[in-house]
Amino acid sequence: MSTVLITGAARGLGLDFVKQYAAKGWRVHACARAPDALKGIEGDIQTHRLEVTDYEAVKALARELSGEAIDVLICNAGISGKEATVLGSIDPATWRETFEVNTLAPLMMAEAFVDHVARSKDRKLIAISSRLGSITHCNSGRYAYRASKTALNMEWKGLSSDTADKKLICVVLHPGWVQTDMGGGQATLTIEQSVPSVVKVIDGLRPADNGRFFNYDGSEIPW
Ligand SMILES: NC(=O)c1ccc[n+]([C@@H]2O[C@H](COP(=O)([O-])OP(=O)(O)OC[C@H]3O[C@@H](n4cnc5c(N)ncnc54)[C@H](OP(=O)(O)O)[C@@H]3O)[C@@H](O)[C@H]2O)c1
Repeated sequence: MSTVLITGAARGLGLDFVKQYAAKGWRVHACARAPDALKGIEGDIQTHRLEVTDYEAVKALARELSGEAIDVLICNAGISGKEATVLGSIDPATWRETFEVNTLAPLMMAEAFVDHVARSKDRKLIAISSRLGSITHCNSGRYAYRASKTALNMEWKGLSSDTADKKLICVVLHPGWVQTDMGGGQATLTIEQSVPSVVKVIDGLRPADNGRFFNYDGSEIPW
């Protein structure tokens, strides 16, 4: 049986990742701050209450699951950072929070669970990043969010080298602009158009994809 662990699993993209993997017959470890929202979804789903910036809780969960092999770890939890995006309005508190959730927390997850992933069959360490983190594509503000995702990408690139002995496949993925609380109603994709496509990309990842940045449709995004 294959196993996936997903953070930020109670709504948005995370909730649909839970549904997609459960429907495929995978064991799903669904981590959320409010896991009650996951009640009633059919499948082999184990819920865990997790605030991703509570690093003692992250380590405790890793200990609790120490006997498990995790084929796919999806660091999905993230925030948009409610910053005023113009110069003159940079808010240090927003920056710190955005980096804490979007950048530091995924790395702490990766550190805590690297051996769970390494002992699995698939060995895939996935971060849900954003095209807005691509320096090549940068054309506007959103400084905190963009920079937090650029830094996340750099972390994953580093992990792709540092875990070479464990033969992990470390990949960052852009889910598209999706109609979630974060993406808003104007977004071009529905959750149903994004998440199954992202799952297909993850399914197809091979060792040669280690250290790459992919769009939800499988095309590559320049750093
Ligand atoms: N939607 C888009 O267009 C889009 C585009 C590019 C990238 N992304 C990325 O995709 C991921 C999911 O976004 P989404 O669109 O599904 O956003 P969303 O609907 O706002 O959901 C965000 C999820 O992250 C969780 N979360 C936030 N802070 C957390 C924390 N400190 N601890 C634990 N969980 C936390 C939330 O949990 P609570 O329910 O407890 O708040 C929620 O489940 C994010 O990393 C985002 O940056 C989204």
